[in-house]
Amino acid sequence: MAGSYFLTTAIDYVNSAPHLGHAYEKVLADFFSRHEKSLERDVLFLTGVDEHGQKVQQSAQKEGIEPQLFVDQTSAHFQRLHESLGIVSSHFVRTTDDLHKKVVREWLQKLHDKGEIFFQEYEGFYSVRQEQFVTEKDKVDGQWPEIFGEVIETKEPNYYFKLEPYRQKLLQHLDENPDWIVPAFRLKELRGALAEPLADLCISRPKSRLSWGIPLPFNEDYVTYVWFDALVNYVSFASVKGKLVWPPDLQIIGKDILIPAHGVYWPIMLFALDLALPKHLLVHGFWTNSGAKISKSNAKSLIDPVPYVAKYGPDALRYFVLREMVLGQDADFSDDRFETRYKTDLGNDLGNLVNRTLAMIGRYRGGVVPNYDGFHLLPGDNALRSDSYLEEYRAAVDQFAPHLALQAIWKLVQCGNQYVEETAPWKLAKDEAQSKRLDVVLGLLAETVRRLSVLVQAALPFTAEKIRAQMQLFPGPVRIEEALFGNSLKGQAIGKPEPLFPRLEEKPPAS
Ligand code: MSP
Repeated sequence: MAGSYFLTTAIDYVNSAPHLGHAYEKVLADFFSRHEKSLERDVLFLTGVDEHGQKVQQSAQKEGIEPQLFVDQTSAHFQRLHESLGIVSSHFVRTTDDLHKKVVREWLQKLHDKGEIFFQEYEGFYSVRQEQFVTEKDKVDGQWPEIFGEVIETKEPNYYFKLEPYRQKLLQHLDENPDWIVPAFRLKELRGALAEPLADLCISRPKSRLSWGIPLPFNEDYVTYVWFDALVNYVSFASVKGKLVWPPDLQIIGKDILIPAHGVYWPIMLFALDLALPKHLLVHGFWTNSGAKISKSNAKSLIDPVPYVAKYGPDALRYFVLREMVLGQDADFSDDRFETRYKTDLGNDLGNLVNRTLAMIGRYRGGVVPNYDGFHLLPGDNALRSDSYLEEYRAAVDQFAPHLALQAIWKLVQCGNQYVEETAPWKLAKDEAQSKRLDVVLGLLAETVRRLSVLVQAALPFTAEKIRAQMQLFPGPVRIEEALFGNSLKGQAIGKPEPLFPRLEEKPPAS
């Protein structure tokens, strides 16, 4: 099963602080990355920040500092958030990195040499917020849609990249690879966007208007359009020991940047440079805040993940976002839902099962997992010995459905808690004649907790580590096969149980 796996996320704009949407996407990618590692694959996982463009230049100007200093400060917030959430990438991408600037310039030069880029005077409309040229066709009911912000009339010569020559090839790729975009309904939207001829993409901005960008190699009076610059990041850092790893197995993005950036510009840039397209584009939905859209332009709706991580711990946030969002659809965040998931799924279900199992082994067997080899098993023991949980978990991950993967794990958690209620070890402990039965029950429960430490490791890496430490097991991460049922714990001395998700009395942090 080994091999390699390459995945990427969108790189975040650094003109304001990271919010829940950014955190979600990175947690999602980290979940897949950890899962692939548990299949013993060499994983290349790229994520990071998008540091050029007009918005950053304006934000730096507002603060009265140089753009480079501004991005050094804001990128550090994103990096700290990744660390606090346990997001372990292979490289934290920054588009101000010299390596990236070099690759962007090489790409531009190659495209220019091939005649794919041309120079032309343009007269028309420009959206300041989207940093792109817009046409009358973009108007809705005769008005510029709100997403464009201020639209100004402008006249300037620029460099253009021809998209139309590749439209048919892209449509053919969609026909031949119906699972290229997940979920499939997004493919239909993309086909719609490709139904009409494609306008040329303006890939330059004159330095007189925007200086914060990568200069074009063939005309230093211009800088590169921020989207062209940003998309190249996926290649700039895709090398391991000097060798290009290509194509990505999985590229994770939000629904707002499929069309046109990742669904049109990106594959056409790859076609033009004879590079293979990514195997899958995974398009997630948006988080809302008690019904309101979470976006930088709506400060009240913003959810800062940092206080949640500080109060509940990183795994609580990781669990919430992976469990609540059906990948591809939108999901709603609220303090009540967060608190409920923390108290029930994490505290009462998983935390309680681990805690009571270890406590009972401590109390009734002096902290040593009993050996039940050759003892009689009852039909009620079989649910805990089933490998169906792992099968269901893996099938869900393969379908890009982390919420179902977590549900599969929680079936084992519930089964464990039910088993405790049904077997009532505290009653067995009072009856010497039931000693062997108690050994079986505690042995099976210890094995369940051990298996859970493997099953939760991609979603809840900190918790997995804590469980393994409390059981004095070899620290993780471990191969996914370790989640199969086994009987390896007999005689294992375990440590003192500590609550994994302690009760918190105060109200959740204000967002
Ligand atoms: N810089 C570009 C991406 C360039 S990729 C070559 C960008 N940045 S962003 O900061 O606006 O968004 C980064 C990612 O966060 C995108 O995938 C976007 O969809 C995602 N999200 C932004 N707001 C979101 C929510 N409210 N919910 C979920 N994800 C959201 O676009």
